[in-house]
Amino acid sequence: MDIMFLISNSTVLVLSGLFLTTTAVVYVYLRFFYVDIPKIDGIPEIPSGEILAGHLYKLGNDHATTAEAWASKYGWPVFQLRMGQRRAIMLNSFEAARDWMVKNQAATLDRPWFHTFHGVISATSAATIGTSPWDERTKKQRRVVGSFTTGPSIQKLRKVLHMETCAVISSLYYDSQKGRTDIMPHIYQERLALNLMMMFCYGTRFSSVEDPLLLQILKDGSTIASFRSTSSNAQDFIPHLRYLGENKRTATAKEVRGRRDQWLAKMLDNVRGNLNLRTGPKKSVAEMLLVDSSKDDLTELDIKTILGGLMSGGFETIYSTAIITIGMLSTLQGQPMQQEAYEDIMKVYDTPADAFNLCLTEEKSPYVMGLVKEALRFFPPLKLLPARQTYTEFVYQGATIPKGVLVYMNTQAINRDKNTYGPDADQFRPGRWVEKDHGIPPPYHFAFGAGGRMCTAVNFSNRVLYALFLRLIISFNMTENKLSPPNTDYINYKRDSTESNAIASKFKVNFTPRDTAVLEQCLEQAQDELTDLLPGVVAEPLIR
Ligand code: HEM
Repeated sequence: MDIMFLISNSTVLVLSGLFLTTTAVVYVYLRFFYVDIPKIDGIPEIPSGEILAGHLYKLGNDHATTAEAWASKYGWPVFQLRMGQRRAIMLNSFEAARDWMVKNQAATLDRPWFHTFHGVISATSAATIGTSPWDERTKKQRRVVGSFTTGPSIQKLRKVLHMETCAVISSLYYDSQKGRTDIMPHIYQERLALNLMMMFCYGTRFSSVEDPLLLQILKDGSTIASFRSTSSNAQDFIPHLRYLGENKRTATAKEVRGRRDQWLAKMLDNVRGNLNLRTGPKKSVAEMLLVDSSKDDLTELDIKTILGGLMSGGFETIYSTAIITIGMLSTLQGQPMQQEAYEDIMKVYDTPADAFNLCLTEEKSPYVMGLVKEALRFFPPLKLLPARQTYTEFVYQGATIPKGVLVYMNTQAINRDKNTYGPDADQFRPGRWVEKDHGIPPPYHFAFGAGGRMCTAVNFSNRVLYALFLRLIISFNMTENKLSPPNTDYINYKRDSTESNAIASKFKVNFTPRDTAVLEQCLEQAQDELTDLLPGVVAEPLIR
């Protein structure tokens, strides 16, 4: 009996010792080693982070909106928080974003490595430039991409832009029975954005909005984009989630990766197969890269990374900006904007047909240029910009910011900063950009980011949006459908607040032609000009 007592007593002692030691080890690990970077002195921290998740789950389903609410509740334009085991800084004001990204650009141009996007999605093929860390290779890729999306290269894309904007106008016109029925404009803008990028990258396009491959690419593209969102990938920040059972997100990532690899390879192979058949100047980026890769010392992986970056960078951003702007213009509030834009255009051009044709090569209407800026300011497609990571240590307002910290720009808050845009920052008002001395300094808004990793295609994107909006305004009077109007609230317009790209929820619009004779004449002329768009490419009839 005594012996039994002694044994069980010593077992209890051993077990208690083990328990205490384990608890102490776990405590020391969580307290001192779990988070990658200790609290940064001099930058306020959002209170009550959880032990493992930090503030990740407290950010809810709409990270940008919660962060904006915290910034205003505490009066902290810049704060630190914990995304699981990663320390992060959130920038919520225009001045702070300029200080970090423009004035300290050399210190903030790195990007982090994320388990799901880099470790799973990009494991079998390339990542994208926009997600690559800063090194010689990324620098080279950025240089090559920059050369495709500035100055003379944009002029070379004139015919592609001509085709895709005409395809939108023509489809809206005929599919709505010349304005007699209201239609949902989303798929037309989605196809415009995808075709622009497909033509630009691979020299090919979809001529029907019902093409099954088009629909598959759109679906896969948006799933892949969701892996870059901060709100759908807890396993990137809380490591043990990666190993707990079969992670659903990882399974989806693998499935979509398989399909994506297939269609990317098919498109590149098609270009490679046609290379020798084509004479004359190489037109698509893939052609140029395949032919000139030795000149720029590019590997097959570089080529895939560049093309992946262009496709994913350009597609959803252009689509989401285009669709919400059409929604906004169609509302009651948007009617005087359409009128003002039309009058402004007609001040610069003699006829609507001249405006229709010349907008591809020049940006002459200040009001339409203002509309593009205001659309990107008020409805930035990416609300939390792709994460940056500090590349070197630097000092910000007396606080020493160490190397390796995550940095997020909250464009939703930055782009509506009342200190920069004035008391009407919460209103959509393209006219603000036309006023002399509006006093808003470059980069004017942060939809394209800023500094050393700013979007490489700012001029290209502005030109696309300018030409699209001008052609729509010259062609139609857009009015919302009373039963299915657009939601234009800057927070609630999104179909899904957890997506990294803010796509407007569904709505219908009436596209009444301003002048059918002029419109049909413009489309006929375009059809004649576009017969030789690219050899072997299926253009589509613009007149039906
Ligand atoms: C409305 C259109 C667009 C918007 C709002 C947009 C926005 C952005 C943003 C916010 C970034 C990250 C910037 C930063 O971290 O500071 C970015 C990066 C990038 N964008 Fe765009 N983008 C657009 C169109 C395009 C297009 C059309 C292309 C390609 C032709 C493109 C290619 C890229 C690339 C390659 C990067 C990666 C840059 C890097 O990390 O070094 N973007 N874009």
